[in-house]
Amino acid sequence: MHVSQPGPTFDVHLDPEWARGALIDDVRRGLGRRPLRLPPRWLYDERGSALFDRITRLDEYYPTEAERSILEREADRIAAITGADTIIELGSGTSDKTHTLLGAFDATGRLQRFVPFDVSEPFLRDAADALNERYPNLHVHGVVGDFTLHVPHLPTDGTPMVAFLGSTIGNLYVEERRAFLAMLGDHLPSGAWLLLGVDLVKPVDRLVAAYDDPHGVTAEFTRNALVVLNRELGADFDVEAFDHIALWDPLHERMDLRLRANGEHHVRVPGAELDLELADGEEIRIEISTKFRIPSITAEVEAAGFRTRQVWTDDRGDVALLLSSVG
Ligand code: AVJ
Repeated sequence: MHVSQPGPTFDVHLDPEWARGALIDDVRRGLGRRPLRLPPRWLYDERGSALFDRITRLDEYYPTEAERSILEREADRIAAITGADTIIELGSGTSDKTHTLLGAFDATGRLQRFVPFDVSEPFLRDAADALNERYPNLHVHGVVGDFTLHVPHLPTDGTPMVAFLGSTIGNLYVEERRAFLAMLGDHLPSGAWLLLGVDLVKPVDRLVAAYDDPHGVTAEFTRNALVVLNRELGADFDVEAFDHIALWDPLHERMDLRLRANGEHHVRVPGAELDLELADGEEIRIEISTKFRIPSITAEVEAAGFRTRQVWTDDRGDVALLLSSVG
């Protein structure tokens, strides 16, 4: 029997109070000792998400278009191979690219449920409402959470495919990546699928252009980390006195994005009960963006209990999509 859908449903694992506590912990841990670092998850407030959206439309930032081109080419095949009835999208944001996937899966007649999963509740609610209108027969079940913590809460009934796109996995350090993939592999039942999008190692000049764009959008994006601390924790960072630095780390094969203090700074962060003395030229790491090689990321995925069935790249070989099954 067909039951008309009552509209999106939500599970919220991150309430604002919890998020504030987590931010304070991150700031104490990250700015309380050297080397200074802040985790990238706080970059995506409203302004940060809008800036990231602008980044994805820069000519220099190739990953978004490259991944979209693979999805457009292969979405029907992905739907046919997996036969999934549920798509779970981690870090879905505005669920932009998802339309390609949803369209292809919807056409198989098997798709029942879409589970967008994101840290940002307002974004998730807007996206869920829009999707519900566009796909009235689809049950949209939003989950507000942190993908490094709340994977065990994802629904696993039916045949789910977890989509983790945009090379967001590149933000994790290698040990975090291993733990995340293992958690996913443990939680998903056999027959479930993982569609993983990764950015590939390529010549340094293109990487640096993508992460230090001449329009300064990426610089604004990383400086937004300080804007967030000023607003949320009453910090007094002189945001404009920090330079955006995009380094290629050849040992770890990752971009390393930092903010470098121009001049000495005494910064107070009352919300985290922290005082910070920054020397001229001192750096705060804001984000890493790891670039992958197909054999090694495949091996990592397999070590977590997946079997990789297909790997696709875009025409330029810039990014890859791995389609892997549990067991
Ligand atoms: C959203 C994490 C995939 O690492 O390429 C873009 C974030 N930072 N430019 C990336 C980002 C600076 C992006 N991810």
